Order: sequence, then C-alpha cells, then structure tokens
Amino acid sequence: MSKLINPIEKANPLFLERIRSQLNDEKDYIEFCRISSTRIVSSIRCNTIKISTDELKKRLEKKWEIKQPFKKYPEVMIIESELLPGELGKAIEHILGYYYIQEIASMMPVLVLNPKSNESILDLAAAPGSKTTQIACMMNNQGVLIANEVSLGRVSILSTNLQRCAVTNSLVIRQTGESLCKKLVDLDFKLDKILADVPCSGEGTIRSSPKTTQMFSENLINNLANTQKYLAINALKALKVNGTLVYSTCTHAPEENEAIISHLLENYPVEIQEISLPLKTRPGITKWKNEVYNKDVKKCARIYPQDNNTEGFFIAYLKKTGEIE
Ligand SMILES: C[S@@+](CC[C@H](N)C(=O)[O-])C[C@H]1O[C@@H](n2cnc3c(N)ncnc32)[C@H](O)[C@@H]1O
Repeated sequence: MSKLINPIEKANPLFLERIRSQLNDEKDYIEFCRISSTRIVSSIRCNTIKISTDELKKRLEKKWEIKQPFKKYPEVMIIESELLPGELGKAIEHILGYYYIQEIASMMPVLVLNPKSNESILDLAAAPGSKTTQIACMMNNQGVLIANEVSLGRVSILSTNLQRCAVTNSLVIRQTGESLCKKLVDLDFKLDKILADVPCSGEGTIRSSPKTTQMFSENLINNLANTQKYLAINALKALKVNGTLVYSTCTHAPEENEAIISHLLENYPVEIQEISLPLKTRPGITKWKNEVYNKDVKKCARIYPQDNNTEGFFIAYLKKTGEIE
C-alpha cells in the first residue's frame, strides 16, 4: 500500500486558518484535520444503462466486499475490501462500463438536479464526465443532454467515458460555458435544467489530492470566483423560466460558493430551494470576512469530510423565476 501524503501536515497555514474559522469549534476542526489525513473511501456508481445494481453487486461480490450505503440509491456502492493501487480502474467490470469510479459527495449535485427522461439538460463544465454519466443514467439515456467542456484534452476523456458507459442521449461540445450559454440564448434554445459544476480551488478534494493544501492561494480563489460568477450568470440566462440551476463546487471557500449565490439572489430573478440529501449537510455561511451574504444562502448545502467520511462539497439549488433581459 502506497504511503499517504498528509495534506494537513504540509498545509499552507492560511488554508488551515480559513477552515478553522468556518467550523463550529476546536473539536470540529480537529476532526476535520483527522479525517482529512486518512485514506478516502473507495466508492463506485453502478451504470444502470448497462447493468442492474443487483447484477453488478453479485459480480463484484465474487472479489470484493460491497456495501450499499443508501437504500434509496442502490447504485451507490462502497468497496470495503482493501484494494491494490489502480485495481478499481483495471477491473473488467470497469472497462465494460458497468460502473463509474466516483466519490460519494461528488454524486450529490446530480441527486439535487433530479434529471428526468423527458428533459433538456446542460452539464456546463462536464469533464471527465462523472456527473454527465450519472445524469444520463437518471434520464434512462433519453431526452437531450448537452455535455460541455472547455479543455480539449479533457473533452476527449469525457467522450471516452460517455462511450464506455454507452451514453447515447448526449451531445459533446467544446466551448467556454459562458459562450455556449450566450449562443444558446441567441438561438432561443433554453434548457429545463443546468448543472454548473464549476472549476474551483478543490479544497474539498485534499484527501485524494493532498498537494492542494500546499499550493493554496487566495489569489487563485479570487480569480476562480470571477469565472464562476460569469458561468453562473450565463447559465441562468440559458434556462427556461421555472428551470433549475444546480451550482456546485468541491471547495469550502465562501468566495467561490455563497458569494456567487448571493450575487445571483440579489441581482437576478431567482429563488433558492431547500436541499434534501442522504448525507449530513450544513447550512451555507452568511458572513465571511467583511462580507455579509443574502440570508437565503443558508439553504445551500455544505458537505464537510468529517460529517460523512467523504470529500467536501458545496451545492446550491436555484429556480429561475422570470425572464432576464
Ligand atoms: C470541477 S471540474 C468538472 C467535473 C465534472 N463535472 C465531473 O463531475 O466529472 C470543472 C471543469 O470545468 C472546466 N472548465 C474550466 N473553465 C471552464 C469554462 N469557462 N467553461 C466550461 N468549462 C470550464 C475544467 O476544464 C474542468 O474540466
């Protein structure tokens, strides 16, 4: 078993200070540090386009111990057996597209989006395709699914994953999310639902990418926040009235999370919706440094690693309530 790099030991002190000030108390902070220094749980999501959850479980139980943590979502599986490096990716069931290797917190935004077979859905920042393939499963491979990604290298990984998982209701586009949304608006092609799983500083992924805490910088956060704001505003414009926008990041930084949602709530016809998930979540933060956010950001969901033994995530669930000029 490879040695684990401890993301907390090597962390930039500013990263730790910022996390400490978001948490309830010292005990909570110590628990965050403890869990962040442990290996991430191995989880997969059954690709129900290709195989039933029962059939996959039966096959995998011949080599691994499998747990299904959520009764309502049997497609979510945890591998309890100790795995060799790369073992999940090399397994024949993975190559055949029977499952997608996906961290459990990363499955939550699509559960909030709740895709349906007859809808038109845009995945605005889609590569490598964890959430696009999850959306396609929930749509029963029907309806219209647009998967957009700006990076050429990552578009090819996205396409490979869609092919491996036999997703046939999708169209892959390579654009910046902002310009794609503008073009869709010009064509008067508005979507029922949009997932904006935007590029972020990745503070929630430190268990699998421990170097994130060493490379931490507030400048990076502020630059990303600009991109995220443009992506979110343009996504909102490309939605039908009464359409759904799910905004998510795998970071804890309020500048990339509540600040963006607060801006939308204060400037656009949008309502925030309650989120109900099979994981423990905490409400959005209403104050950060000198900023006070719209009080409704409390309805956002913060997922901390110490609450569910997962990675960290942030999710906001919005409904567009009127036309935007
Ligand atoms: C958090 S990742 C998306 C992960 C993906 N949703 C999944 O679950 O597999 C963010 C992605 O956004 C892409 N990206 C960065 N800037 C973008 C932009 N302006 N428009 C669209 N995508 C962008 C990045 O290349 C990256 O692949």
